[in-house]
Amino acid sequence: MKETSHRVSKAPKSAIRELFDLASGRPDVISLGIGQPDFPTPEPAIQGNIDALKKKITMYAPTRGVPELLELIEEKMRRKNKINTNWKENIIVTNGASQAVTLAFASLFNPGDELIISSPNFVSYFYCALFFGVKVIEVKRNKDFSPNIEGIRNSITPKTKAMLINSPNNPTGHILSSTELKDIVDIIIEKDLYLITDEVYENYVYDGLKHISPASLDGMFERTITVNAMSKLFSATGFRIGYAVASKAIIDLMEKFHQYTVAGTNHAAQYGFIEALKMGIGFFKEIWESFNERRNLVYNRLKEIGFNLVKPHGAFYMMPSTEKFNLTGSQFSQRIMEKQAIAIVPGNIFGSFSDNMIRISYATEIEKLKEAMNRIEKFVLKL
Ligand SMILES: Cc1ncc(COP(=O)(O)O)c(C=O)c1O
Repeated sequence: MKETSHRVSKAPKSAIRELFDLASGRPDVISLGIGQPDFPTPEPAIQGNIDALKKKITMYAPTRGVPELLELIEEKMRRKNKINTNWKENIIVTNGASQAVTLAFASLFNPGDELIISSPNFVSYFYCALFFGVKVIEVKRNKDFSPNIEGIRNSITPKTKAMLINSPNNPTGHILSSTELKDIVDIIIEKDLYLITDEVYENYVYDGLKHISPASLDGMFERTITVNAMSKLFSATGFRIGYAVASKAIIDLMEKFHQYTVAGTNHAAQYGFIEALKMGIGFFKEIWESFNERRNLVYNRLKEIGFNLVKPHGAFYMMPSTEKFNLTGSQFSQRIMEKQAIAIVPGNIFGSFSDNMIRISYATEIEKLKEAMNRIEKFVLKL
């Protein structure tokens, strides 16, 4: 048989999914690997989806998305993100933020282009780049996980096409400050680059910090692709509904790729998102408070246990170092699963500079988190 795709073969199976496989069917396992909130999807979102199906909305959706949904996203972008768009030109509904990222790659890059990413960072970016023949230039984050602005500047070559940011960040929990964002934006404009900004955790922001959308800043709309989804805010990762916001020229390209690869997004689910957006954000207060409490609990316990770690200000992850225990992140992850039935994602899947780290998700109920911290303590004491 002839060889199959080199690019796709090179990508490993998702380590996070493998961890879930290991944990499945084992009731003793507590998973700290989870990438979705444990709160239920709000009822209006579910009902919107059901009603649409009952009305037999089962045919292909308009390629860019249902107009009523596009209008609501336009309004949300204006209100929450301070970005003025025209829904007829600047928005496309996608299969989750994941596909919005894919569309960003499809519309911007040619093989050989370079993309700058602060590392560690979300795992999918690395493989999307591989699939589109894009060379990722990883710039190691500073010790507090802030971006290394000088490092970014020095990494730019004539082949650099874009930078990709994700703030609040998975896996580090870092939120870009207005100064860090300004430094990044200055580079983007000065060097004539594009910016892809993945904002799926925009509501998971703590300690009085603010999420700023770069496309709202002067001179940035035309060169920015903003990626978002209903997944994390509405605890609805299985709806597979996201969106991308960009200039007309970029959305036109995305529409073509979307048309010929997926022919649209789940039609009925878009009505679920319509009802979710109409609800407003009031429902999220309780979730935010719970996540903030979990964040403080996990951070304080890990500190007490002796981990070196940075307190995250956003998303629902933190990234402690395992170096002090003379274990790589992978060794730590494997052994704690064996000995204490805790599922933790090793840091090395998030890039080249996090071999001696683990990623802990605190999107799990508080009693389980307390028990998980006790088990981690027992494990560490026996090392
Ligand atoms: C930073 C980031 N972007 C995108 C996604 C994927 O989002 P979706 O489920 O909407 O495709 C995730 C999921 O964990 C994520 O953490």
